[in-house]
Amino acid sequence: MTTHLWSGRFDAPPDLAAFAWGSSFGFDRRLFEDDVTGSRAWARGLARAGVLSADEADSIEAALTNVLDRGRSEPAFVDGTDEDVHSFVERLLVERLGDAGRRLHTGRSRNEQVSLDLRLYLRRRIPLLQRGIERTIAALSGQALAAGDALMPAYTHLRPAQPVLVAHFFLAHVAPLRRDHDRFAAASSEADALPLGSGAIAGTSYAVDVQALARDLGFSRVVANSIDASSDRDFAATFIYACALTMVHLSRLAEDLIILCGEEHQFFELADALSTGSSMMPQKKNPDPLELVRGKTGRAVGHLMALLTTMKGLPSGYNKDLQEDKHAVFGAEDTLTGCLMVTQSVIEGLSLNRARAESAASGLLLATDVADYLVGRGVPFRRAHEIVGALVRKLHGEGRQFASLALEEWRAASELFDADVIARVTARASVAAKRTPQSTAPPAVQDALSETERWLDARR
Ligand code: ARG
Repeated sequence: MTTHLWSGRFDAPPDLAAFAWGSSFGFDRRLFEDDVTGSRAWARGLARAGVLSADEADSIEAALTNVLDRGRSEPAFVDGTDEDVHSFVERLLVERLGDAGRRLHTGRSRNEQVSLDLRLYLRRRIPLLQRGIERTIAALSGQALAAGDALMPAYTHLRPAQPVLVAHFFLAHVAPLRRDHDRFAAASSEADALPLGSGAIAGTSYAVDVQALARDLGFSRVVANSIDASSDRDFAATFIYACALTMVHLSRLAEDLIILCGEEHQFFELADALSTGSSMMPQKKNPDPLELVRGKTGRAVGHLMALLTTMKGLPSGYNKDLQEDKHAVFGAEDTLTGCLMVTQSVIEGLSLNRARAESAASGLLLATDVADYLVGRGVPFRRAHEIVGALVRKLHGEGRQFASLALEEWRAASELFDADVIARVTARASVAAKRTPQSTAPPAVQDALSETERWLDARR
């Protein structure tokens, strides 16, 4: 017989196909551990409120512990035709304890239970995603360190813009991941509120000390309003937003590497183990893992859209639509977990082709430094820009670089150029001339790298 929790009210059992279709146990079994944790605490709360005897609470706790152990050691045990994980746990309890098990649901609703389980789950799982982010940051920081003083061009509009340290490029991808790490901490804080005591919608009539219960379950506060609590999934949306934005960042890193490892650039080389060949073209070495990271970003963004759309326009109070939240939360989490793992491996396996990167960092992209030279001689920047623009036009037409200019040619462009311009207009001088802490100036990059390593050390 299919298990259901409302048999008293109905003459007929549920339509089997519709029941199976609407059941969430197939995917909310991931909340098994959290459901047991929440139920144990609720049993203690009911005992403190005098609703359960100490003996009943003890036997419920013991039975739940037994169920948890069994489920942990034997994952196939968490299975059945139950409607959801909450009814599964309750059924096992009743099978083991009879009426004592039937008392556990006193004053409690699955509406708050599912919110509790999801909050407990996220509080437990977010740190694992943060570990994944830390490992990816460590891989980037390792590459930044290994790059030493190597140079490469930085791009705007995907056109060579100015020389930068290769380390600066890697740290440019650390910065968004650091924000993601903070964003997950904020998502965890948002999930940090106990919904129990809300009942189905109006609260509970038993004098359960919800503050004590919150402490028991590791929450620092209790939700503000029982109606809101039964349908609030803001914390889930915040979590998925953090996943989606992290994926957006990984996709941009992936795209940079796809371009910069390609034949046209060859600044970096992908490890063979993290590339794929072609079934037809023998010369191909494809960046499939990076392309998949880029592609899977669509899923994470899709999960965010899915949950927001599910939430939009819902009437107050619990509605079954909210059961869809699990697909979105678990899907976003799984997507990010896999992508962090593979991104870390790809970064760790990168090798730098210093000669290629540095040769691309010189040439006409030093034009801003030439203009800055004239500014140093008192020329207004707009005027300097014009002078250098004309010089670039000439060099471009002749297929030449600044380095090929004789002093007379410099002087023909402006009398203010002196012999020292030759040494000033190199990629290394360009980088060394930067003055701000967020710039690619070598001491600034060194500070940023040290700060990143200290941040990582504090978490190792
Ligand atoms: N499986 C449900 C969900 O995931 C649990 C809550 C069910 N509550 C209810 N009133 N049917 O949302």
